[in-house]
Amino acid sequence: MIDLLIIHAGELLTCRTDSNGAAGAELQQLEIILDGAVAIEGNRIIEAGATSALQQYFGDARKILDAHGRLVSPGLVDCHSHLVHAGSRHEEYERLITGRSNSVGRLDSGIRYTVNKTREAGDAFLRDQALADLDVMLAHGTTTLEAKSGYGLDYDTELRLLQIQHSLQHEIDVVSTYLGAHVLPDEYRDRRNDYIDLVIHTLPEAKPYAEYCDVCCDPIGFTPDECARICDAAKALGFRLKFHADQTGYSGGSELAAKYQAKSADHLDYISAEGIRSMALSGTIGVLLPSVTFHMMEMVPKIEKGRLVPAPKAFLPLAVQRMIEGGMWLAISADYNPGTSPSQSMQMAMQTAARLYRLGSPEIWHMSTINAAWALDRASDRGSIEVGKRADLVIWKVNHHGMVINRFGVNLVDTVIKNGKAVIENQKVIQV
Ligand code: NIG
Ligand code: FE
Repeated sequence: MIDLLIIHAGELLTCRTDSNGAAGAELQQLEIILDGAVAIEGNRIIEAGATSALQQYFGDARKILDAHGRLVSPGLVDCHSHLVHAGSRHEEYERLITGRSNSVGRLDSGIRYTVNKTREAGDAFLRDQALADLDVMLAHGTTTLEAKSGYGLDYDTELRLLQIQHSLQHEIDVVSTYLGAHVLPDEYRDRRNDYIDLVIHTLPEAKPYAEYCDVCCDPIGFTPDECARICDAAKALGFRLKFHADQTGYSGGSELAAKYQAKSADHLDYISAEGIRSMALSGTIGVLLPSVTFHMMEMVPKIEKGRLVPAPKAFLPLAVQRMIEGGMWLAISADYNPGTSPSQSMQMAMQTAARLYRLGSPEIWHMSTINAAWALDRASDRGSIEVGKRADLVIWKVNHHGMVINRFGVNLVDTVIKNGKAVIENQKVIQV
């Protein structure tokens, strides 16, 4: 007798691919089983297929969940966040959107504001806020999350953040990343090399608490040479690598990430043709962060001195198309952080990817499930509904995967199953 049988899914969206990830033409080929069923034993999926077939074998399951009229998908994987931090940046944001202040500095000054607030905050506050944010993410369908440090930028605070994010007890699995090289802290303004030395010096202490090391290779962060020094040291200690690359301008970060065979390079707004080629070849996954583009209004014209100034990143839909045509593997993340994306919702990121990058729902679903799991090196264990994988599933209030992309601004999750257990279970079916 198995533990749980889900039956009569209006659509069972498996997101299964040939090689634990989709690129090129495969991005369009979404596997959907109508009137689908999933059999779960413990925390694992033991069968997925048609309800008629599974009911024959597993009809005596301990619990049967009727998902009639509802979409069932893999749990969403959010592969990039700055989870642990203190303070809100709503005042800075108000000045940015209204254009009322000329003093809105570059992004790095906002990051330093959060660094100051985070350094002042106690462990209990930071942990409680992170847990509350995880609750919101889970309720919106996220079952696995990557979390980066990077708002400490000194030895003690970075380690404190890593210890907190590594020890969070929550239904969401948290994959921990050390981002000492986020931006240069104020106190090192004229001593860049000393700060790189500090990041490298921190690596061995960070290792027990972090699987990945991330570097911000960007005009607001660090140069390729500086990042290379950190990557060499991190690789030698057994860290896997991630990059923030080419976010606020071209920096060569994508090429460097490919050279180091980083697992992912994220943002990529100003990626070059060579960056696309080299990432496709190295298998480094590109992580798109559409909520940032939306929140920072990078595709909306600005008003400056009474004049309309064209949107700085109006080219992004074409850049994303070139990444796909160039054979890159792509994922989508919400990039939850207090500055560029104060939203915990993967649904919002998926919906925004459609509207801003002109991506279709098959691409978006692959990028938010199996490809995102791959960006965390967990695609053999999760990210699709397949035999042997972790039983992380979402039952939606709607009955078609396209509706999750088409609607926006409300939570469409009905039930979240994590490791075979219903952890969110509440909402009503929308009749369509
Ligand atoms: O958008 N290069 C860093 N960029 C971060 C910003 C975080 C913040 O504004 O606090 C990001 O991922
Ligand atoms: Fe980020």
